[in-house]
Amino acid sequence: MSLLILGIESSCDETGVALVRADGSAVPRLLAHALHSQIEMHQAYGGVVPELASRDHIRRVLPLTEAVLHETGLRLDAVDVVAYTRGPGLAGALLVGAGVACALGAALDIPVLGVHHLEGHLLSPFLSSDPPEFPFIALLVSGGHTQLMRVDGVGRYAILGETIDDAAGEAFDKSAKLMGLGYPGGPALSRLAEQGDAKAFKLPRPLLHSGDLDFSFAGLKTAVLTQAKKLGDELAARKADLAASTQAAIVEVLVKKTLAALDQSGMRRVVVAGGVGANRLLREQLNAACAKRQVRVHYPELALCTDNGAMIAMAAAMRLQSGQQQANRDYAFDVKPRWPLDAICT
Ligand code: KG4
Ligand code: ZN
Repeated sequence: MSLLILGIESSCDETGVALVRADGSAVPRLLAHALHSQIEMHQAYGGVVPELASRDHIRRVLPLTEAVLHETGLRLDAVDVVAYTRGPGLAGALLVGAGVACALGAALDIPVLGVHHLEGHLLSPFLSSDPPEFPFIALLVSGGHTQLMRVDGVGRYAILGETIDDAAGEAFDKSAKLMGLGYPGGPALSRLAEQGDAKAFKLPRPLLHSGDLDFSFAGLKTAVLTQAKKLGDELAARKADLAASTQAAIVEVLVKKTLAALDQSGMRRVVVAGGVGANRLLREQLNAACAKRQVRVHYPELALCTDNGAMIAMAAAMRLQSGQQQANRDYAFDVKPRWPLDAICT
């Protein structure tokens, strides 16, 4: 079996398109990917404006498709399957990718496959030059999700713990916003934190000693707000310290809970996926802690931590290759703005 899979991501504020080749046995290969980020467009509003996001996906998706075809020298009629993000995400934005995928599928008379966005993140480390092997513990830290999982194979995901309120990405974004760092806050906050003292402010480490693998970040955001208010006019001068202290609190909880998941499961391998996985401090601390325990850590390539089409094409390739799912010719596209990962587990 050799399949050429076109992947389309449009769940939020990035349009991503990619081509992946699945040859049957080995890990599928990324041939090309192209991305357009809407960050600049949404920056003026301090966050994603869903209607603007949908309209921009419409503008970008076909030129990006042409770009990956051009880069690989392949023609559209060489594509065997069109994969798209079916959910979770913004309904209108998802509909653009689903609509284009189904239209292409119908026009080319080839099957389509709706992919779970978080499964895309989860499997994105397989796109790296040092792909993991099953089984592993996964720390999935995207803008809206923070979950620890035991992953035994494609579709075999057991959630060990998750956030009971805000996600780690939200804690970064909301803290950054109240410090006036704009959107998206995570990268801005972590850049500023490089110049700050992480011990300057004592911030809570929620649920650190709860004994389970759940997270809670809403209280941390409130503590950052209280601290910012206390500082008043001084905030401008102490912003880097507050950013560093906030980042340290979030990262400490993520690292300690991941280590606890490794201890509890006896696993020797961990995979970090999702946008927050791009955070340098998280990588440094997790790498150091895992090196001590002789645990292997895998990350997606930095450019593939945040949303992209490559992870969608890859997840589709791995699902098809493992026999977990078949692509279909039912072009009645339905998207799932809310879609728990458990729903696709076997
Ligand atoms: O996975 P992702 O691109 O989108 C979702 O599926 O949600 O994750 C976006 C999240 C945002 O919260 C963003 O602030 C965060 O990832 N993020 C970071 C960094 N880069 C992106 N957070 C901390 N440090 C970073 N370097
Ligand atoms: Zn994402």
